[in-house]
Amino acid sequence: MSDFTNNFWSVYVAAITVIGIVACLLLLWFSGKAKAMTAHDNTTGHVWDGDLREMNNPLPRWWVWLFVITIVFALVYLALYPGLGTFAGKLGWTQAGQYQTEVDKGNEAVAPLYAKFAAMKPEDIAKDPQAHAIGERLFMNNCSQCHGSDAHGSKGFPNLTDSDWLHGGTPEKIMETITLGRVGQMPPMAAAVGTPDDVKNVANYVLSLSGSPHDSVRAALGKSKFSACAACHGSDGKGNQALGAPNLSDDIWLHGYGESAIIAMVNNGKMNQMPAQAEKLTAAQIQVLASYVWGLSNGAGPK
Ligand code: HEC
Ligand code: HEC
Repeated sequence: MSDFTNNFWSVYVAAITVIGIVACLLLLWFSGKAKAMTAHDNTTGHVWDGDLREMNNPLPRWWVWLFVITIVFALVYLALYPGLGTFAGKLGWTQAGQYQTEVDKGNEAVAPLYAKFAAMKPEDIAKDPQAHAIGERLFMNNCSQCHGSDAHGSKGFPNLTDSDWLHGGTPEKIMETITLGRVGQMPPMAAAVGTPDDVKNVANYVLSLSGSPHDSVRAALGKSKFSACAACHGSDGKGNQALGAPNLSDDIWLHGYGESAIIAMVNNGKMNQMPAQAEKLTAAQIQVLASYVWGLSNGAGPK
């Protein structure tokens, strides 16, 4: 892909490059031709420090040849590699291609290491000390920026060490989450619920589901309004992993605890995304990583 906004800049850059090289050649030729003013003794007549004089000798041959070689090198390089505007070069070399080659080479080098795990069950991989060490390192490099280095998560980023799962906590579901990513989406629901007072009531009903402190009169009034939520969160509020709708009865809060946080969810909705890793990690890496995550939440690490 080219970063030039139009063809003019490509030609402009190529022209400046070629003119620069030609100018170097001309300079070399001209400095060989031009005669400097010399006194009779082949010096320029300049004298420093009493007796230090400047001779007018030609450039040493080896130096001239080095100069010529650099120019030839530049021309050959520009013919083979990208450098002249958008001209791609005869070898077809690209940075992205080189990167991919190195990644492929690296993956090939570690493939035998992962081959051992391919035949194992996730429950056994989670117990394997070597797989655990690999999983931990993969997690630190690819996941910890969002889920925390201890995988405990933070607001908006789920804790992966508990047994509360938005999308499912079996090794297969975790693998699917990592490979394809996930989108958790709740539409703004205030209009479906009714007045701001109704929203406050339904929020208190939600709090009552987990036995959290709440206003029981409001909760009783909000109960019927919860029908607007039941399609996703279930009529008992226990959630639905097929939709990524969280359990509202377990006192574990992804987007904040308390009446105001719930009211904000109902009023604004939420769109939350776990990025797919299939492009970044190999299937073998994802398998080890999923086993590692499964092990964290099931206390199944190496003894
Ligand atoms: C850019 C931030 C980000 C990165 C990087 C990231 N995640 Fe996530 N992850 C999220 C978010 C946000 C969610 C919640 C998605 C939702 O609300 O449905 C999530 C959800 C998950 C879930 C599902 C949790 C559940 O309760 O079902 C798993 C498993 C998971 N991530 C594992 C990983 C692993 C393993 C990695 C490293 C390869 C990783 N994540 C990297 C942001 C991230
Ligand atoms: C279309 C499906 C859908 C409907 C309808 C819906 N929700 Fe949600 N809700 C979700 C999803 C999905 C999430 C998780 C968003 C995420 O992944 O971060 C969520 C998250 C929440 C949360 C945050 C939970 C936490 O752990 O922080 C609350 C509270 C909540 N919903 C309350 C409600 C209430 C109250 C209603 C009814 C007025 C409702 N929802 C209706 C899908 C829905």
